[in-house]
Amino acid sequence: MTDELSLRGGVVVIGGGTMGQGIATAALMSGLSTTVVDVDGAMLQRAEATIARRIRRARDKDAATVLAGLTLSTDMLSAVADAAVVIEAVPEIVELKISIFAQLADAARATALLVSNTSTMSITRLADAAAGSGRVIGMHFFNPAHKMPLVEVVTASSTTPLTVRDALALATALGKDPILVKDVPGFVTSRLGLLLGSEAMRMVEEGVAPAADIDKAMRLGYGHPMGPLELADLVGLDVRLNNLKSMQQRSDATQYRVPRILQRLVDDGNLGKKTKSGFYRYDTDGHPILPGRL
Ligand code: NAI
Repeated sequence: MTDELSLRGGVVVIGGGTMGQGIATAALMSGLSTTVVDVDGAMLQRAEATIARRIRRARDKDAATVLAGLTLSTDMLSAVADAAVVIEAVPEIVELKISIFAQLADAARATALLVSNTSTMSITRLADAAAGSGRVIGMHFFNPAHKMPLVEVVTASSTTPLTVRDALALATALGKDPILVKDVPGFVTSRLGLLLGSEAMRMVEEGVAPAADIDKAMRLGYGHPMGPLELADLVGLDVRLNNLKSMQQRSDATQYRVPRILQRLVDDGNLGKKTKSGFYRYDTDGHPILPGRL
């Protein structure tokens, strides 16, 4: 890559869950050939169905052409070999992400852009795992990633200026509106959003008000498009829990301690909208059954 980001070789998204599905949808809709890699074959089938549904809804005429650009794989090492861009979207577990970046350093082309969608982790630590590659950078997308316009672009100390330029160009190619952020725990959005969400959970625990009223307060009083508990259910309560644990590992601040109610919901398998139960219950179409159950 010299003057312009070349996307020949396409995009490989590692992790076909909530975020991987959204990022892959965005890449396909932008005309990029896209491979989704997951260790779980059943997850890949679900990812394919979700991506296809979204693309058919958005593109009635050329959906088949767009979908022809999608490949599914359980073999990360061969999938990334010719990729122009690799975007990691596996769970927020530091050892897992470190192991992925260590493998990418060998398996991907030296020119490939190596991106993490982490919500909280040190991009410098991931770049170190990839032998200090200057091609490692954070691109923090938002859920649903094919619709939400923001991407936080996060640079490691080893990230080269060319990599920053390429990541900004990729964000634009995906139709996003990026901001550049320093490699601090939680960047801008998770650092603020996790605090708001956790305080809302603690208020449910304390019986200050029911979940639905706490959300209503922030929607009607503060103009938030979505309340903090609705948002936590959308993000996934297991994802929230991992994010809080990761923030605790990166700072000694006690404000990121895990609310008891969050731990209990996750332990009981109530992971939010994706399991149809979290702070709310959801019907089969994913609409909340009001009033909130807690
Ligand atoms: P998820 O749990 O929905 O999906 C993760 C996927 O990764 C699963 O399908 C799993 O099978 C797969 N996976 C696990 N190990 C793997 C491996 N070694 N190779 C390939 N695939 C593997 O998680 P989600 O919500 O998509 O989050 C992924 C990342 O995105 C996390 O770092 C999270 O913090 C971040 N994020 C999540 C947001 C959200 O709203 N859910 C928003 C922005 C960032």
